[in-house]
Amino acid sequence: MSKVHNFSAGPSILPQEALEASIEGIRNFAGTGLSVLEVSHRGKEFVAVVEETQAIIRELLGVPEDYEILFLGGGASLQFLMVAYNLLETKGAYLKTGVWAANAVKEAKYIGNVEVVASSEDRNYCYIPKNYTIPTDADYFHCTSNNTIYGSQMQSFPESPVTLICDMSSDILSRKVDVSKFGLIYAGAQKNMGPAGVTVVIVKKSILGKVSRPIPSMMNYQVHIDKETMFNTPPVFPIFAMLQNLKWVKKVGGVEEMQRRAAARANMLYAEIDSNPLFTGTVDKEDRSQMNVCFLLNDTSLEEKFNKAWKDAGISGIKGHRSVGGYRASLYNALPLESVEALVNVMRTFNS
Ligand SMILES: Cc1ncc(COP(=O)(O)O)c(C=O)c1O
Repeated sequence: MSKVHNFSAGPSILPQEALEASIEGIRNFAGTGLSVLEVSHRGKEFVAVVEETQAIIRELLGVPEDYEILFLGGGASLQFLMVAYNLLETKGAYLKTGVWAANAVKEAKYIGNVEVVASSEDRNYCYIPKNYTIPTDADYFHCTSNNTIYGSQMQSFPESPVTLICDMSSDILSRKVDVSKFGLIYAGAQKNMGPAGVTVVIVKKSILGKVSRPIPSMMNYQVHIDKETMFNTPPVFPIFAMLQNLKWVKKVGGVEEMQRRAAARANMLYAEIDSNPLFTGTVDKEDRSQMNVCFLLNDTSLEEKFNKAWKDAGISGIKGHRSVGGYRASLYNALPLESVEALVNVMRTFNS
């Protein structure tokens, strides 16, 4: 369709064949002669889509049988609140590693007692705190696996004495994760999963039903589970398009292959940042993200020239978030290595 190198932070690049299959579903869904946009979500064809999407997520991520997979609206931002609503009785413990983690803290405070166990705010979130202690009297420990805005990533997850909850919005499906270590994982789909509009929630059934407050139906995970993720009309088209993307992930080699590609892309770009005197990475090396690579152009007087060079090369979406400045290249699953090569080539040659 186009030759644009799409480094957008989200919504972001999807594989061409997932886009084509989504378009085909809009034209003629499952041979019904109708568009996926105009059929009942309770019809057998769409119910089959939901079940297939759950099955492929279960397979790709290795989700154990005692976990449910839900497709909800409201974005990852609603999960900040839902997690606390459903799980916070005494205290929620949080790791504050960026803007989204801070938002999770803020929303949980509407519900109850929150303890920030550790924070990297002191250095503008350029690292992941280590050596913190998770309080044993907390109901859960909430962390954010990848910090989309600041470009840091948890390289491993703590052995938590309490239920481990993780916002994996910006690195889900990019690396192997042992789901059985978590009580709940959630992710807005609009990076590695699919288009915006659906949030994937993977929840261990046994962690629910333990808080004393009444939970309104739409906020209640158990209600969504009981109604097989169709308590209300689900985000039909985002789920359908997500399935097309997941089929592509499976076809090209699953999460293992995504992990290999993520490392190849990130290593190539960080190698250029570290060897090119014109640029500096903003995150401590050991905590660097493979998904969102943040860097500064040291001499800001060259900005106009650099911006022109990457735009001329067909590169899109690398302007840094306003809270960090500089540049952020998002290297999600569907980004081909040749797009990183194009960016590295611009960085190497633009001021010579
Ligand atoms: C890690 C993380 N958490 C949460 C969010 C918020 O997601 P949403 O816009 O779906 O509410 C984002 C959005 O980029 C994110 O990157």
